[in-house]
Amino acid sequence: MFPELRMRRLRRGEGIRALVRETMLSTDDLVYPLFVVHGRGRREPIGPMPGQFRLSVDQLVEEVQEAYELGIKGVLLFGVPRRKDELGSEAYSDDGIVQRATRALKEALPELVVMADVCLCGYTTHGHCGVVVDGRVDNDRTLELIARTALSLAGSGADVVAPSGMMDGQVRAIRKALDEEGFTDVAIMAYSAKYASCFYGPFREAAGSAPKFGDRRSYQMDPPNVREALLEMELDIREGADIVMVKPALAYLDVIRAAKERFLRPLAAYNVSGEYAMVKAAGRLGWMDEEGAMMEVLLGIKRAGADIILTYFAKDAARMLGRAA
Ligand code: PBG
Repeated sequence: MFPELRMRRLRRGEGIRALVRETMLSTDDLVYPLFVVHGRGRREPIGPMPGQFRLSVDQLVEEVQEAYELGIKGVLLFGVPRRKDELGSEAYSDDGIVQRATRALKEALPELVVMADVCLCGYTTHGHCGVVVDGRVDNDRTLELIARTALSLAGSGADVVAPSGMMDGQVRAIRKALDEEGFTDVAIMAYSAKYASCFYGPFREAAGSAPKFGDRRSYQMDPPNVREALLEMELDIREGADIVMVKPALAYLDVIRAAKERFLRPLAAYNVSGEYAMVKAAGRLGWMDEEGAMMEVLLGIKRAGADIILTYFAKDAARMLGRAA
């Protein structure tokens, strides 16, 4: 007890603070999510996500090369299709935008880990994550399309497929399809505990994927629930998920911690678009130190238990980590 024990002794200088530091953020932890569009030379700023762009494949390769040189080992791709339709057919077309982007990235950077989001919402006219029948999202009819999407992405060279549609049985459907076609080494990162969150707002503007009617609460999780999140993760692991995810991250740090304590699979957390937008907006208004807030947010997600952090801050954080090293 004080005065014999003085907590401030180990905070006196950067050297001693570094020695007793419990959590370390590294570029190895970060995955950079990106939006790909058709065309050439396109680099369209995303309004509510300053510093993020919808990129055509040529621009994407340059952007990812830069990130890779900063030490980022993985990217997560989202596509903006040429045309949307009722069944989201570009999602599972071998000529789809993410399929093209994947081939280009694997050719330019063979060691890069290419993760591809597997969902229909960006590709459907109604903006829902599955097949709509009588105004409702039909779980079982969606599974076949999701499996086809994952197969097509694996065929294009994706290392990891990441189903984000919150359909029951989607991980099993994907694992089965991949294994039957010989893609036994393609991993599944399941968005297992994905909550129905308003923090996806900026993303939906970027991907043009907002639902045209209703909302996603019949498939995404109800924010108050944590036991249900653990069950979702347990089921996905049993169905064959290699990595499980909690999303969003900041309002769900307790879910990350609970998952970390319970499961032996690598745990990912998605620092989503709205979380990025909040920090950027406050930084721009001069209300908060943006870089400091960014690092504190990422560190908090890591401390809560995330092994992998998906974040639009990936490049900014890698730059800061490089400077500190
Ligand atoms: C697609 C998907 C979404 C996000 C990732 N995959 C949006 C949604 O569910 O509406 C959100 C990511 C973010 O906000 O950064 N299902």
